[in-house]
Amino acid sequence: MIQYADSITQLESEGAFVVLAKARQMEREGKKIIHLQIGEPDFDTPHNISEAACKAIHAGHTHYAPSGGLPEGREAVAEYMSRTRNVKWSAENAIIMPGCKPLIFCSMVCLINPGDEIIVPNPGYPTYRSVTRFLGAIPVPVKLREENDFRFRVSDLEKLITPKTRMIILNSPENPTGGQLTWEDLEAIYAIANKHDLWVLSDEIYSRIVYDTEFKSIAAIPGAMDRTVAIDGLSKTYAMTGWRLGFACMPKKLADYMFTLAINAFSSTATFTQHAMIEALNGPQDEIDKMVAEFRRRRDVIVDGLNALDGVSCLRPEGAFYVFPNITGTGLTSNQFADLALDKAGVACLSGTAFGEYGEGYVRFSYANSVENIKTALNNIGTMLSDLKK
Ligand SMILES: Cc1ncc(COP(=O)(O)O)c(C=O)c1O
Repeated sequence: MIQYADSITQLESEGAFVVLAKARQMEREGKKIIHLQIGEPDFDTPHNISEAACKAIHAGHTHYAPSGGLPEGREAVAEYMSRTRNVKWSAENAIIMPGCKPLIFCSMVCLINPGDEIIVPNPGYPTYRSVTRFLGAIPVPVKLREENDFRFRVSDLEKLITPKTRMIILNSPENPTGGQLTWEDLEAIYAIANKHDLWVLSDEIYSRIVYDTEFKSIAAIPGAMDRTVAIDGLSKTYAMTGWRLGFACMPKKLADYMFTLAINAFSSTATFTQHAMIEALNGPQDEIDKMVAEFRRRRDVIVDGLNALDGVSCLRPEGAFYVFPNITGTGLTSNQFADLALDKAGVACLSGTAFGEYGEGYVRFSYANSVENIKTALNNIGTMLSDLKK
Protein backbone atom coordinates (compact mmCIF):
# COMPACT_ATOMS: atom_id res chain seq x y z
CA MET A 1 0.00 0.00 0.00
CA ILE A 2 1.20 3.53 -0.76
CA GLN A 3 2.65 5.18 2.39
CA TYR A 4 2.47 8.64 3.93
CA ALA A 5 4.89 10.12 6.43
CA ASP A 6 3.90 9.46 10.05
CA SER A 7 4.64 13.09 10.90
CA ILE A 8 1.97 14.48 8.58
CA THR A 9 -0.78 12.82 10.63
CA GLN A 10 0.37 14.91 13.60
CA LEU A 11 -0.56 18.22 11.98
CA GLU A 12 -3.92 19.64 12.96
CA SER A 13 -6.10 22.10 11.09
CA GLU A 14 -6.99 25.54 12.42
CA GLY A 15 -10.46 26.06 13.90
CA ALA A 16 -10.93 29.39 12.11
CA PHE A 17 -10.52 27.79 8.69
CA VAL A 18 -12.81 24.86 9.55
CA VAL A 19 -15.59 27.19 10.77
CA LEU A 20 -15.06 29.45 7.75
CA ALA A 21 -15.68 26.50 5.40
CA LYS A 22 -18.90 25.59 7.25
CA ALA A 23 -20.09 29.23 7.32
CA ARG A 24 -19.40 29.61 3.58
CA GLN A 25 -21.46 26.47 2.88
CA MET A 26 -24.36 27.94 4.89
CA GLU A 27 -24.03 31.18 2.91
CA ARG A 28 -24.25 29.22 -0.33
CA GLU A 29 -27.51 27.81 1.01
CA GLY A 30 -28.80 31.37 1.40
CA LYS A 31 -28.19 31.93 5.15
CA LYS A 32 -26.76 35.24 6.39
CA ILE A 33 -23.68 34.80 8.55
CA ILE A 34 -21.72 37.39 10.53
CA HIS A 35 -18.07 36.41 10.53
CA LEU A 36 -16.51 36.87 13.94
CA GLN A 37 -14.29 33.81 13.67
CA ILE A 38 -11.40 34.83 11.46
CA GLY A 39 -8.33 36.73 12.63
CA GLU A 40 -8.10 39.08 9.73
CA PRO A 41 -8.39 42.89 9.70
CA ASP A 42 -11.30 43.96 7.49
CA PHE A 43 -9.56 47.19 6.41
CA ASP A 44 -7.93 47.73 3.04
CA THR A 45 -4.15 47.72 2.81
CA PRO A 46 -3.03 51.39 3.01
CA HIS A 47 -2.77 52.91 -0.46
CA ASN A 48 0.89 53.97 -0.23
CA ILE A 49 1.86 50.32 0.38
CA SER A 50 -0.16 48.94 -2.56
CA GLU A 51 1.33 51.71 -4.73
CA ALA A 52 4.87 50.69 -3.72
CA ALA A 53 4.12 47.09 -4.75
CA CYS A 54 2.69 48.18 -8.13
CA LYS A 55 5.69 50.40 -8.76
CA ALA A 56 8.05 47.54 -7.87
CA ILE A 57 6.28 45.20 -10.31
CA HIS A 58 6.43 47.80 -13.09
CA ALA A 59 10.09 48.43 -12.33
CA GLY A 60 10.76 44.74 -12.94
CA HIS A 61 11.21 43.54 -9.35
CA THR A 62 9.62 40.24 -10.29
CA HIS A 63 12.53 37.82 -10.03
CA TYR A 64 13.92 35.67 -7.24
CA ALA A 65 15.13 37.50 -4.18
CA PRO A 66 17.88 36.19 -1.90
CA SER A 67 16.31 33.47 0.26
CA GLY A 68 16.39 35.28 3.57
CA GLY A 69 15.18 38.52 2.00
CA LEU A 70 16.48 41.45 -0.06
CA PRO A 71 19.52 43.11 1.59
CA GLU A 72 17.61 46.43 1.81
CA GLY A 73 14.58 44.53 3.15
CA ARG A 74 16.62 42.85 5.89
CA GLU A 75 18.11 46.23 6.70
CA ALA A 76 14.62 47.74 7.01
CA VAL A 77 13.43 44.84 9.20
CA ALA A 78 16.45 45.10 11.52
CA GLU A 79 15.93 48.86 11.84
CA TYR A 80 12.14 48.51 12.44
CA MET A 81 12.48 45.66 14.94
CA SER A 82 15.27 47.47 16.80
CA ARG A 83 13.26 50.73 16.93
CA THR A 84 10.02 49.11 18.10
CA ARG A 85 11.68 46.78 20.64
CA ASN A 86 14.49 48.93 21.90
CA VAL A 87 17.08 46.34 20.85
CA LYS A 88 20.08 46.57 18.52
CA TRP A 89 19.74 44.06 15.71
CA SER A 90 21.48 44.32 12.33
CA ALA A 91 20.54 42.99 8.88
CA GLU A 92 22.38 39.70 9.48
CA ASN A 93 19.91 38.95 12.30
CA ALA A 94 16.84 39.60 10.12
CA ILE A 95 14.98 37.07 7.98
CA ILE A 96 11.96 37.68 5.71
CA MET A 97 9.53 34.88 4.86
CA PRO A 98 6.01 34.60 3.38
CA GLY A 99 4.22 35.29 6.65
CA CYS A 100 4.72 34.91 10.36
CA LYS A 101 3.56 31.30 10.13
CA PRO A 102 6.49 30.10 7.96
CA LEU A 103 8.83 31.84 10.40
CA ILE A 104 7.27 29.94 13.30
CA PHE A 105 7.47 26.70 11.33
CA CYS A 106 11.02 27.15 10.07
CA SER A 107 12.47 28.35 13.36
CA MET A 108 10.92 25.36 15.11
CA VAL A 109 12.39 23.07 12.43
CA CYS A 110 15.81 24.62 13.08
CA LEU A 111 15.65 24.35 16.87
CA ILE A 112 13.63 21.29 17.90
CA ASN A 113 14.63 17.63 18.07
CA PRO A 114 12.27 14.67 18.49
CA GLY A 115 11.49 14.10 22.16
CA ASP A 116 12.07 17.73 23.17
CA GLU A 117 9.46 19.39 25.34
CA ILE A 118 8.09 22.73 24.17
CA ILE A 119 6.14 25.01 26.48
CA VAL A 120 3.10 26.35 24.66
CA PRO A 121 0.49 28.83 25.93
CA ASN A 122 -2.94 27.22 26.39
CA PRO A 123 -5.44 28.46 25.29
CA GLY A 124 -3.09 29.42 22.47
CA TYR A 125 -2.51 29.62 18.76
CA PRO A 126 -2.91 26.00 17.52
CA THR A 127 0.08 26.09 15.16
CA TYR A 128 2.54 25.95 18.09
CA ARG A 129 1.35 22.59 19.39
CA SER A 130 0.65 21.23 15.91
CA VAL A 131 4.17 21.93 14.62
CA THR A 132 5.67 20.68 17.89
CA ARG A 133 3.96 17.30 17.39
CA PHE A 134 4.87 17.27 13.69
CA LEU A 135 8.53 17.48 14.73
CA GLY A 136 8.12 14.51 17.09
CA ALA A 137 8.38 16.78 20.13
CA ILE A 138 5.96 17.17 23.03
CA PRO A 139 3.84 20.28 23.58
CA VAL A 140 3.61 21.10 27.28
CA PRO A 141 0.69 23.46 27.94
CA VAL A 142 1.07 26.34 30.36
CA LYS A 143 -2.33 27.56 31.48
CA LEU A 144 -3.40 31.13 30.79
CA ARG A 145 -5.63 32.13 33.66
CA GLU A 146 -8.62 34.42 33.37
CA GLU A 147 -8.11 35.56 36.98
CA ASN A 148 -4.61 36.64 35.90
CA ASP A 149 -5.89 38.66 32.89
CA PHE A 150 -5.11 35.65 30.72
CA ARG A 151 -1.43 35.61 31.57
CA PHE A 152 0.20 32.43 32.77
CA ARG A 153 1.72 32.35 36.22
CA VAL A 154 5.48 32.28 36.11
CA SER A 155 5.35 29.81 39.02
CA ASP A 156 3.24 27.48 36.80
CA LEU A 157 5.85 27.78 34.06
CA GLU A 158 8.68 26.96 36.41
CA LYS A 159 7.04 23.71 37.48
CA LEU A 160 6.81 22.53 33.87
CA ILE A 161 10.54 22.77 33.11
CA THR A 162 12.35 19.42 32.85
CA PRO A 163 15.76 18.43 31.45
CA LYS A 164 13.96 17.83 28.13
CA THR A 165 12.54 21.34 27.84
CA ARG A 166 13.99 23.05 24.77
CA MET A 167 11.83 26.10 24.09
CA ILE A 168 9.25 28.44 25.57
CA ILE A 169 6.74 29.92 23.14
CA LEU A 170 5.32 33.33 23.98
CA ASN A 171 2.56 35.20 22.21
CA SER A 172 1.86 38.62 23.64
CA PRO A 173 -0.59 40.23 22.89
CA GLU A 174 -2.17 36.83 22.67
CA ASN A 175 -4.47 35.02 20.30
CA PRO A 176 -7.15 34.03 21.40
CA THR A 177 -7.41 35.94 24.70
CA GLY A 178 -5.94 39.37 23.95
CA GLY A 179 -3.90 38.96 27.16
CA GLN A 180 -0.48 40.57 27.48
CA LEU A 181 2.54 39.60 29.53
CA THR A 182 3.91 42.34 31.77
CA TRP A 183 7.53 43.46 31.83
CA GLU A 184 7.93 41.70 35.19
CA ASP A 185 6.58 38.48 33.63
CA LEU A 186 9.05 38.78 30.75
CA GLU A 187 11.97 39.33 33.13
CA ALA A 188 11.00 36.28 35.17
CA ILE A 189 10.50 34.17 32.02
CA TYR A 190 13.87 35.22 30.69
CA ALA A 191 15.53 34.29 33.99
CA ILE A 192 14.03 30.78 33.66
CA ALA A 193 15.06 30.49 29.99
CA ASN A 194 18.57 31.60 30.84
CA LYS A 195 18.91 29.28 33.83
CA HIS A 196 17.81 26.23 31.81
CA ASP A 197 19.40 27.27 28.51
CA LEU A 198 16.11 27.45 26.59
CA TRP A 199 15.11 29.13 23.37
CA VAL A 200 12.30 31.68 23.46
CA LEU A 201 10.11 31.91 20.40
CA SER A 202 8.26 35.20 20.81
CA ASP A 203 5.35 35.58 18.39
CA GLU A 204 4.83 39.34 18.35
CA ILE A 205 2.43 39.56 15.42
CA TYR A 206 0.02 41.76 17.46
CA SER A 207 2.74 44.11 18.70
CA ARG A 208 1.16 47.22 17.18
CA ILE A 209 -2.44 46.41 18.13
CA VAL A 210 -2.34 47.48 21.77
CA TYR A 211 -4.64 49.88 23.57
CA ASP A 212 -3.85 51.16 27.05
CA THR A 213 -0.41 49.63 27.35
CA GLU A 214 2.93 49.82 25.62
CA PHE A 215 4.14 46.71 23.78
CA LYS A 216 7.23 45.11 25.29
CA SER A 217 9.38 42.37 23.81
CA ILE A 218 11.34 39.87 25.86
CA ALA A 219 14.23 40.55 23.45
CA ALA A 220 14.74 43.93 25.15
CA ILE A 221 15.94 42.28 28.36
CA PRO A 222 19.75 42.42 28.45
CA GLY A 223 21.13 39.12 27.18
CA ALA A 224 17.77 37.83 25.87
CA MET A 225 18.58 38.49 22.19
CA ASP A 226 20.98 35.55 22.24
CA ARG A 227 18.20 33.02 22.80
CA THR A 228 15.15 34.79 21.33
CA VAL A 229 13.43 34.58 17.97
CA ALA A 230 11.21 37.68 17.75
CA ILE A 231 8.62 37.30 14.99
CA ASP A 232 6.35 39.97 13.51
CA GLY A 233 4.91 40.73 10.09
CA LEU A 234 2.61 42.78 7.93
CA SER A 235 -0.57 40.66 8.15
CA LYS A 236 -2.26 42.22 11.17
CA THR A 237 -0.65 45.64 11.62
CA TYR A 238 -1.01 46.74 8.02
CA ALA A 239 -4.12 44.70 7.06
CA MET A 240 -2.04 42.61 4.64
CA THR A 241 -2.94 38.98 5.41
CA GLY A 242 -3.11 38.03 1.74
CA TRP A 243 0.26 39.53 0.85
CA ARG A 244 2.08 36.88 2.85
CA LEU A 245 4.97 38.67 4.41
CA GLY A 246 6.50 38.16 7.83
CA PHE A 247 9.88 38.93 9.35
CA ALA A 248 11.90 38.04 12.40
CA CYS A 249 15.12 38.85 14.22
CA MET A 250 17.26 36.16 15.82
CA PRO A 251 20.87 35.25 16.56
CA LYS A 252 22.98 35.29 13.38
CA LYS A 253 23.76 31.57 13.38
CA LEU A 254 20.05 30.73 13.45
CA ALA A 255 19.38 33.32 10.71
CA ASP A 256 21.98 31.53 8.55
CA TYR A 257 20.22 28.19 9.09
CA MET A 258 16.87 29.81 8.28
CA PHE A 259 18.37 31.20 5.07
CA THR A 260 19.45 27.71 4.00
CA LEU A 261 16.09 26.23 5.01
CA ALA A 262 14.34 28.85 2.84
CA ILE A 263 16.57 27.91 -0.11
CA ASN A 264 15.38 24.34 0.20
CA ALA A 265 11.73 25.03 0.97
CA PHE A 266 10.53 27.96 -1.16
CA SER A 267 13.58 29.82 -2.57
CA SER A 268 12.43 33.29 -1.54
CA THR A 269 9.60 35.59 -0.55
CA ALA A 270 8.08 37.55 -3.46
CA THR A 271 10.36 40.42 -4.40
CA PHE A 272 7.75 43.13 -4.96
CA THR A 273 6.01 42.46 -1.63
CA GLN A 274 9.34 43.09 0.06
CA HIS A 275 9.46 46.50 -1.62
CA ALA A 276 5.94 47.10 -0.30
CA MET A 277 7.18 46.03 3.14
CA ILE A 278 9.91 48.67 3.09
CA GLU A 279 7.24 51.31 2.38
CA ALA A 280 5.01 49.86 5.11
CA LEU A 281 7.75 49.99 7.74
CA ASN A 282 9.28 53.33 6.75
CA GLY A 283 6.31 55.22 5.29
CA PRO A 284 3.53 57.16 7.07
CA GLN A 285 1.87 55.29 9.95
CA ASP A 286 -1.31 57.34 10.40
CA GLU A 287 -3.52 54.68 8.74
CA ILE A 288 -2.35 52.21 11.38
CA ASP A 289 -3.25 54.60 14.18
CA LYS A 290 -6.72 54.94 12.65
CA MET A 291 -7.18 51.17 12.42
CA VAL A 292 -6.11 50.68 16.02
CA ALA A 293 -8.50 53.44 17.18
CA GLU A 294 -11.32 51.71 15.30
CA PHE A 295 -10.40 48.33 16.81
CA ARG A 296 -10.53 49.90 20.24
CA ARG A 297 -14.03 51.30 19.59
CA ARG A 298 -15.20 47.87 18.48
CA ARG A 299 -13.58 46.18 21.44
CA ASP A 300 -15.60 48.37 23.80
CA VAL A 301 -18.83 47.64 21.91
CA ILE A 302 -18.31 43.89 21.98
CA VAL A 303 -17.06 43.70 25.59
CA ASP A 304 -19.97 45.81 26.90
CA GLY A 305 -22.46 43.84 24.77
CA LEU A 306 -21.14 40.46 25.93
CA ASN A 307 -21.18 41.49 29.58
CA ALA A 308 -24.85 42.44 29.19
CA LEU A 309 -25.73 38.87 28.12
CA ASP A 310 -27.07 36.41 30.68
CA GLY A 311 -24.45 33.86 31.70
CA VAL A 312 -21.58 35.56 29.84
CA SER A 313 -18.71 37.60 31.30
CA CYS A 314 -15.86 39.13 29.39
CA LEU A 315 -12.57 40.81 30.29
CA ARG A 316 -11.54 43.94 28.36
CA PRO A 317 -8.31 42.88 26.61
CA GLU A 318 -5.58 45.42 26.00
CA GLY A 319 -4.27 43.95 22.78
CA ALA A 320 -5.00 42.09 19.52
CA PHE A 321 -8.58 42.07 18.14
CA TYR A 322 -10.11 39.14 20.00
CA VAL A 323 -12.28 38.73 23.05
CA PHE A 324 -12.48 35.50 24.98
CA PRO A 325 -15.68 35.59 27.05
CA ASN A 326 -16.40 33.10 29.80
CA ILE A 327 -19.64 31.34 28.84
CA THR A 328 -19.91 28.83 31.70
CA GLY A 329 -22.93 30.70 33.12
CA THR A 330 -24.96 29.73 30.04
CA GLY A 331 -24.75 26.03 30.93
CA LEU A 332 -23.35 25.31 27.46
CA THR A 333 -19.98 23.82 26.64
CA SER A 334 -17.70 25.85 24.37
CA ASN A 335 -18.46 23.61 21.40
CA GLN A 336 -22.21 23.76 22.03
CA PHE A 337 -22.10 27.56 22.29
CA ALA A 338 -20.09 27.97 19.06
CA ASP A 339 -22.31 25.49 17.15
CA LEU A 340 -25.52 27.14 18.35
CA ALA A 341 -24.18 30.62 17.59
CA LEU A 342 -23.58 29.57 13.99
CA ASP A 343 -26.74 27.49 13.49
CA LYS A 344 -29.27 29.61 15.43
CA ALA A 345 -27.78 33.11 15.59
CA GLY A 346 -25.92 33.16 12.26
CA VAL A 347 -22.74 34.20 14.08
CA ALA A 348 -19.47 32.42 13.32
CA CYS A 349 -17.15 32.25 16.33
CA LEU A 350 -14.68 29.69 17.66
CA SER A 351 -14.96 27.30 20.55
CA GLY A 352 -12.31 28.00 23.18
CA THR A 353 -11.21 24.37 22.88
CA ALA A 354 -9.95 25.11 19.34
CA PHE A 355 -7.06 26.68 21.29
CA GLY A 356 -6.45 23.80 23.70
CA GLU A 357 -8.09 22.12 26.64
CA TYR A 358 -7.84 25.16 28.92
CA GLY A 359 -10.10 26.98 26.46
CA GLU A 360 -13.11 25.03 27.72
CA GLY A 361 -15.69 27.42 29.15
CA TYR A 362 -14.80 30.16 26.66
CA VAL A 363 -15.41 31.15 23.05
CA ARG A 364 -13.39 33.46 20.85
CA PHE A 365 -14.85 36.34 18.90
CA SER A 366 -12.75 38.39 16.53
CA TYR A 367 -13.96 41.97 16.38
CA ALA A 368 -12.37 42.62 12.99
CA ASN A 369 -15.85 43.44 11.70
CA SER A 370 -18.04 46.56 11.59
CA VAL A 371 -19.71 47.94 14.73
CA GLU A 372 -23.05 47.44 13.00
CA ASN A 373 -22.36 43.73 12.41
CA ILE A 374 -21.01 43.30 15.94
CA LYS A 375 -24.20 44.81 17.38
CA THR A 376 -26.40 42.55 15.22
CA ALA A 377 -24.33 39.53 16.27
CA LEU A 378 -24.72 40.41 19.96
CA ASN A 379 -28.44 40.85 19.50
CA ASN A 380 -28.80 37.50 17.74
CA ILE A 381 -26.77 35.73 20.43
CA GLY A 382 -28.93 37.38 23.11
CA THR A 383 -32.04 35.97 21.41
CA MET A 384 -30.37 32.57 21.05
CA LEU A 385 -29.61 32.49 24.80
CA SER A 386 -33.10 33.55 25.85
CA ASP A 387 -34.67 30.97 23.48
CA LEU A 388 -32.63 28.31 25.29
CA LYS A 389 -34.44 29.08 28.52
CA LYS A 390 -37.92 28.63 27.00
C1 LIG B 1 -0.61 34.41 17.01
C2 LIG B 1 -0.52 34.36 15.54
N1 LIG B 1 0.66 34.11 14.96
C3 LIG B 1 0.78 34.04 13.62
C4 LIG B 1 -0.29 34.25 12.79
C5 LIG B 1 -0.10 34.13 11.30
O1 LIG B 1 0.42 35.29 10.76
P1 LIG B 1 0.78 35.40 9.19
O2 LIG B 1 -0.48 35.76 8.47
O3 LIG B 1 1.81 36.47 9.12
O4 LIG B 1 1.32 34.08 8.75
C6 LIG B 1 -1.54 34.52 13.35
C7 LIG B 1 -2.73 34.67 12.48
O5 LIG B 1 -3.85 34.52 12.89
C8 LIG B 1 -1.65 34.59 14.76
O6 LIG B 1 -2.82 34.86 15.35
